Amino acid sequence: MGLKHQTPKSSSSNFFSCRYSTIFTLLLLFTSFFLFLASLRNLQEPFFWADYTQFNGDLRDAKFPWNKLCFGPTFEKLKIAVFSKTWPVGAAPGGMERHASTLYHALASRGHEIHVFTVPSDRRPRWDIHEGNLHVYFAANDHGSVNISLAFDVFNKVNENGAFDYVHTESVSLPHWRAKMVPNVAVTWHGIWYEIMHSKLLQELLSNPKWQLSDPMTELHEAMPRLVEEIRFFKSYTQHICISSSAGEVLVNIYQLPQRNVHVILNGVDETEFTPDQEAGAKFREKYGVPANVSIVMGVAGRLVRDKGHPLFYEAFSSIVRRHPGVFLLVAGSGPWRRRYTELGPNVKVLGALEPLELSKFYNALDVFVNPTLRPQGLDLTLIEAMQSGKPVLTPNYPSIVGTVVVDEEFGYTFSPNVKSFVEALESAIRDGPNVLKRKGLACKKYVVSMFTATKMASAYERFFLCMKNTKYCQYPLPTDC
Ligand SMILES: *[C@@H]1O[C@H](CO)[C@@H](O)[C@H](O)[C@H]1NC(C)=O
Ligand SMILES: *[C@@H]1O[C@H](CO)[C@@H](O)[C@H](O)[C@H]1NC(C)=O
Repeated sequence: MGLKHQTPKSSSSNFFSCRYSTIFTLLLLFTSFFLFLASLRNLQEPFFWADYTQFNGDLRDAKFPWNKLCFGPTFEKLKIAVFSKTWPVGAAPGGMERHASTLYHALASRGHEIHVFTVPSDRRPRWDIHEGNLHVYFAANDHGSVNISLAFDVFNKVNENGAFDYVHTESVSLPHWRAKMVPNVAVTWHGIWYEIMHSKLLQELLSNPKWQLSDPMTELHEAMPRLVEEIRFFKSYTQHICISSSAGEVLVNIYQLPQRNVHVILNGVDETEFTPDQEAGAKFREKYGVPANVSIVMGVAGRLVRDKGHPLFYEAFSSIVRRHPGVFLLVAGSGPWRRRYTELGPNVKVLGALEPLELSKFYNALDVFVNPTLRPQGLDLTLIEAMQSGKPVLTPNYPSIVGTVVVDEEFGYTFSPNVKSFVEALESAIRDGPNVLKRKGLACKKYVVSMFTATKMASAYERFFLCMKNTKYCQYPLPTDC
């Protein structure tokens, strides 16, 4: 793919527009030399980030995700307090609470003492949890959300028995007015208002294409003051962790937080849950009646709602399927757009919401995973899951995605969130066909395994807290690092 951009054909042929045959020979030589260089480039790691491979210095100055580095084991044990809006119990957990649960189970199993202040995700009264080093205290108010004074009563008691090394909050679970009184606090932002403004902008543009000057844009008018408010109160937290490189840049460049207090640690997905399995994919296709003669199978997953981009995808796919009758679509999930997809005819199969095990087979049944989302905030875990299953992705070109997930064309296709651009991206995937898609899928797998695993995430957070406790751990590499 890189060849297309790198052969300097047009400029060199203008330059050499003389009649001498020797010059043509030279041109040929040059071209093959450039082709050779280009192929060398393709062999290298396909990312453009700062050269983390040679990184040597203070981790607080790292301008790339900490997940990139390889941290060795440590003997030092930490005592950490965590504030989380909820803690997953029972049903399948969502984004932020799943993150907290994955991370803190991992850190506790590495021998650190973890105390979580939260409420159960089902909002029912429950006993506190004490599992080895992991302690979860439920401190709910009458509405079932965290009662922060109650949580602090318990926090203070635990703190008296040995001071916490560091406090971590998932987003504003520890509110900013309270965070001001806690100097050793780090916050992880799972989505910032600047990104939410971007999402509101896209939704306005799409939902209202024939806009009149008199039409109210209430949501947009209300959005700006919230951004101002957020920029003001973010200063109440000492250390900031972002889950994408682009959010980190916004915190430094727009929110004006000191570079040294902003860090990027990407979320990890359990690497054993989603793995490539060709056979499972073939069985899944058979089970759900995907005809054997289709040319390409696409899939979407998640809630079938407007802000996940389903109106956009519905329109793009309707136009595609008219021109390419061999394209098949599998839809996993439920929501208001389910019926519309069913109406698209025999090339679409709507599966409803899938259990995690079925979901993993679903990814394996695809040639390409489509994520039409209109929400650029945070990171969509479905993208990572599809890539862990060895599938390329087709997704909007938001900064959080192109800067962190689909950082190379080799991982799939990106588009601007409008129907025309979406259709063009779908056409490219169809033109490439299953064999090219398969190759891209392998590249995806290789990349996510190096970046987005739960193990990588836990080891980056561990090192982060160690570095906050004792600056000697901020040095990289240490003799124990790999
Ligand atoms: C929160 O907990 C405190 C006790 O620490 C209690 O006095 C207060 O009424 C609780 N607030 C709510 C809204 O439940
Ligand atoms: C696949 O086979 C069916 C049944 O033989 C046929 O009706 C359909 O047109 C074929 N589809 C394509 C894309 O070739």
